Amino acid sequence: MSEAFSAWMKSIQVLMEEALGEFLPAPTEKPARLHEAMRYAVLDGGKRVRPLLVFAAGELFDAPKSELACAGAAVEMIHAYSLVHDDMPCMDDDELRRGKPTVHVKFDEATALLVGDALQSQAFLVLTEGEGDAVRKLAKVRLLAEASGSFGMCGGQAIDLDSVGVFLSRGELEQMHRLKTGALLRASVLLGAWSGKQLSSDETAALDAYARATGLAFQVVDDILDATADSAVLGKTAGKDAADNKPTYVSILGLSESQALAEKLRQDAHHALKDFGSAAQRLRELADLIVDRKN
Ligand code: IPE
Ligand code: IPE
Ligand code: MG
Ligand code: MG
Ligand code: MG
Repeated sequence: MSEAFSAWMKSIQVLMEEALGEFLPAPTEKPARLHEAMRYAVLDGGKRVRPLLVFAAGELFDAPKSELACAGAAVEMIHAYSLVHDDMPCMDDDELRRGKPTVHVKFDEATALLVGDALQSQAFLVLTEGEGDAVRKLAKVRLLAEASGSFGMCGGQAIDLDSVGVFLSRGELEQMHRLKTGALLRASVLLGAWSGKQLSSDETAALDAYARATGLAFQVVDDILDATADSAVLGKTAGKDAADNKPTYVSILGLSESQALAEKLRQDAHHALKDFGSAAQRLRELADLIVDRKN
């Protein structure tokens, strides 16, 4: 990772922490316990990969920072909500997330359910904030709704839950991963790009190809890390997929083929950006980060 990229990444992470802190209800505001739990779920943790994608894609099209902060916060809130629900006993039943007790453990199950619900509503509210054009805001609301609903993240989670102990074909596994994780990563790239100047159809196709490759790579690597890393580094319980009998890239392809696939997806992501030249360097380094990450 280049020094310039590392410094840029830290600056966006700091900016996002501040923006999220402002977009979330104050912990003193009633109902205080719910607001405290929402802030616990979102703030002070996480790699902020989705907002980083929003900013890297947005900067390529000269998007204003304030609009990118709204889009980044919205997608991060949807992501945080998906994690809170994913960890609940009715789903993956996990006790550790981002190195801290999960929301239902720290608070209680009903609060965790409401935290997810409220974060989802807050995400769409945030997308309507700021000066930007109303038609553009509507397009972004629709994009995020589609990516997070039953044809996106929630649909993927439903397939995931139905697949415990089931043998999935490689195509079925890919479809599950594209929905449960890929859809929100793709939306992050497009939310960023749509915050700037108009894209040509070639640019849209290239970004979409980048986003699809990166989105799938993200979950392939998540499956690899679940099987190879330890809980202290991951900040979540390692080895959980095998323990729960979940079909993953590692269980279906094996470790080395999964690693080869992640490499191939990195190449696909880079290839998709070939016509953007050096302006897309941050998107390239983000694809590398997604494949090379240790947590
Ligand atoms: C974990 O996402 C859940 C998946 C979609 C695979 P991240 O690895 O982005 O989690 P945080 O936000 O950094 O905690
Ligand atoms: C979850 O996938 C994807 C979401 C939509 C939250 P995982 O269940 O593999 O995520 P982790 O490993 O618990 O972070
Ligand atoms: Mg899960
Ligand atoms: Mg999980
Ligand atoms: Mg996982």
